[in-house]
Amino acid sequence: MKELSSSRKSYERGELHESELDADPIVAFTRWLDEASAAPEHLAEPNAMALASVAADGRPSLRVVLLRGLDQRGLRFFTSYDSRKGRELIARPFAAATFWWPALERQVRVEGDVRRIDDDESDLYFASRPRGHRLAAWASEQSEPVESRAVLDERMAHFEERFAGEEIERPHSWGGFLLVPRSIEFWQGRENRMHDRLLYRREREGWVRVRLQP
Ligand SMILES: Cc1cc2nc3c(=O)[nH]c(=O)nc-3n(C[C@H](O)[C@H](O)[C@H](O)COP(=O)(O)O)c2cc1C
Repeated sequence: MKELSSSRKSYERGELHESELDADPIVAFTRWLDEASAAPEHLAEPNAMALASVAADGRPSLRVVLLRGLDQRGLRFFTSYDSRKGRELIARPFAAATFWWPALERQVRVEGDVRRIDDDESDLYFASRPRGHRLAAWASEQSEPVESRAVLDERMAHFEERFAGEEIERPHSWGGFLLVPRSIEFWQGRENRMHDRLLYRREREGWVRVRLQP
């Protein structure tokens, strides 16, 4: 493995000027996502984000999930409501999400409030998933311990049989969350670690933008 303390990359791909970033951060964020999706290096999973939740004792936990929708209401992602993150987000409805697009030397950070999306919307998204993914939502009690891989595979086989030739309905324990941003920060790597950072905060009068020191 490369020396962690000495590997260094200079960030020189772009600059971030106030005039370039839309006054509406959702519009700006959508553009950055589009650019990450179209990056010549073809970023794997540009919609993957690290998502932090908080446990009852105040300790944070973090994992990667896929962003499945972005609009003026917020960011949508799907998971098991009974998973560790699901339980934490329901009990403490706050989250933070971070995207890192190395090919573009860009980071986006989102913080805000979380709520479950409507069942209808979860049904719609669930129905669009490949059959195997829908079966897995039944077979896996996400975040719970399991004796062995074999037990998991047996559970999958059990639900394959149970739903053979039938539509697979969405388990009530599975669905979407909406992360409603209170703040969104855009970060563009620059030379000498003098990076550009533009932070949007939602105020009563609308989005307010400030530049932060790197
Ligand atoms: C690239 C990537 C995408 C993932 N997407 C999701 C997702 O959209 N939903 C999900 O529940 N888990 C997803 N996972 C798995 C989570 O990182 C995590 O292992 C799982 O949700 C259990 O987390 P928890 O125990 O904190 O609830 C993804 C993992 C990776 C590496």
